[in-house]
Amino acid sequence: MARTKLKRFQQNATSENVIEVGKERYTTIKGQWHATQFKNQNPITLELGCGNGEYTVGLGSIFPERNVIGVDIKGSRIWRGSTNAKEKNLTNVAFLRTSILELEKFFEPNEVNEIWITFPDPRPRLGDAKRRLTSQRFLGIYQRLIQKGGKIHLKTDDNPLYQFTLETIEKVGATLLEHTDDLYQSDYLDKHFGLQTTYEKKFLAEDKKICYIQFELNKPISYSK
Ligand SMILES: C[S@@+](CC[C@H](N)C(=O)[O-])C[C@H]1O[C@@H](n2cnc3c(N)ncnc32)[C@H](O)[C@@H]1O
Repeated sequence: MARTKLKRFQQNATSENVIEVGKERYTTIKGQWHATQFKNQNPITLELGCGNGEYTVGLGSIFPERNVIGVDIKGSRIWRGSTNAKEKNLTNVAFLRTSILELEKFFEPNEVNEIWITFPDPRPRLGDAKRRLTSQRFLGIYQRLIQKGGKIHLKTDDNPLYQFTLETIEKVGATLLEHTDDLYQSDYLDKHFGLQTTYEKKFLAEDKKICYIQFELNKPISYSK
């Protein structure tokens, strides 16, 4: 392993704001985020596939009355967000290193109040559709964790993923609240608080349009493999 990566992994291992395999909280945090990690009862926002965690740190900074957890499988990206949060002394921000498929091992039903999915891998191959973070399988997971009325937000540069998500929302009977295939020319931009992720900056530099969807999942979603 490269030395920089090794150093980052060593720092993650001792960071209070990183929950990952090998730490006690990795196995005990389910249902205990308020009591153990944040020591308050404030609502929890997740950023899924958070990468460097710009939304996680940004939302945590703008909304001190919320707790924000960035979730990603990659430790070196989580290190970046964790370090930024520590530099800003944000005690309401944490990072969970896991696969999003495993979320139910870490959260009880109703423990989550809001979810942001920021620039997920589009997985264009038809055979990969069930691995898209807005497929029926993943929406079922989110529905079981999020409080009734909790908002889910998707940002993507990928128009086919945007269309796929709109279709899936309709198919599962979810409530579509807002959507645009050009966020930067829409009235919704103000609700993004000026936050941009690493991938978003890259896509904007390539003159790509950013799509946005907001929806609610208020009824159970079945999924069979
Ligand atoms: C295209 S990047 C976007 C990162 C960041 N949100 C941004 O906009 O800059 C997708 C991220 O999702 C993470 N990811 C993809 N599938 C995942 C999964 N099933 N569980 C956890 N993380 C996942 C990847 O590791 C990667 O950091």
